[in-house]
Amino acid sequence: MIRRCTASDVPYILEIERKSFKPEDIYSDELLKFLCAYCNDYSYVYVLNGTVAGYIITCHEGNAAHVISIAVAPEYRRRGIGKRLLCTALRLMATGKVSEVFLEVRVSNAPALHLYKSAGFEVAEFLKSYYSDGEDGYRLVLRDREKARKFCVRELEMQGGIQTRA
Ligand SMILES: CC(C)(COP(=O)(O)OP(=O)(O)OC[C@H]1O[C@@H](n2cnc3c(N)ncnc32)[C@H](O)[C@@H]1OP(=O)(O)O)[C@@H](O)C(=O)NCCC(=O)NCCS
Repeated sequence: MIRRCTASDVPYILEIERKSFKPEDIYSDELLKFLCAYCNDYSYVYVLNGTVAGYIITCHEGNAAHVISIAVAPEYRRRGIGKRLLCTALRLMATGKVSEVFLEVRVSNAPALHLYKSAGFEVAEFLKSYYSDGEDGYRLVLRDREKARKFCVRELEMQGGIQTRA
């Protein structure tokens, strides 16, 4: 089930971050708590067998949505959880609440790039030495509402499975 992120989910999110990202890319406990609260409308956890298997933090900034962080615990990957989580952000686009969704990704992150490209994201900007270890990044953007809707057609149908109140 997907439900809104709460402060009590943060230790589980941190654990997934530790298993998923380089140490310099891991957010602090305080920042995650702030983001879960401040961006609560579009930040979700995916709960499986009573544990947090993945999460997404998306902040809504005017006419745009920014996916700040998304990760799935290694043992739960390749089961469609990342796609379902990403679709909580693309729902904003598909329903016309924002005109674009953007995010940043390391150039070496093939699984994430694959997911984003299949959702219809395109490279908006090359970010030279964007990451603290010097790796380059891409800023990706999705502006095509129809593509977002098509990619998430099943997930949008399952909106009843998304708890919109924490
Ligand atoms: C990126 C990530 C969130 C994807 O989560 P996931 O639950 O494994 O993704 P899904 O099972 O929903 O996969 C959806 C699609 O993404 C693509 N994809 C996911 N993992 C992939 C991989 N290892 N190689 C190639 N494509 C991959 C595929 O197109 C896949 O569809 P398919 O399984 O039908 O081929 C996950 O790999 C992850 O947590 N990575 C570490 C954290 C991270 O890099 N986050 C992104 C930061 S920008």
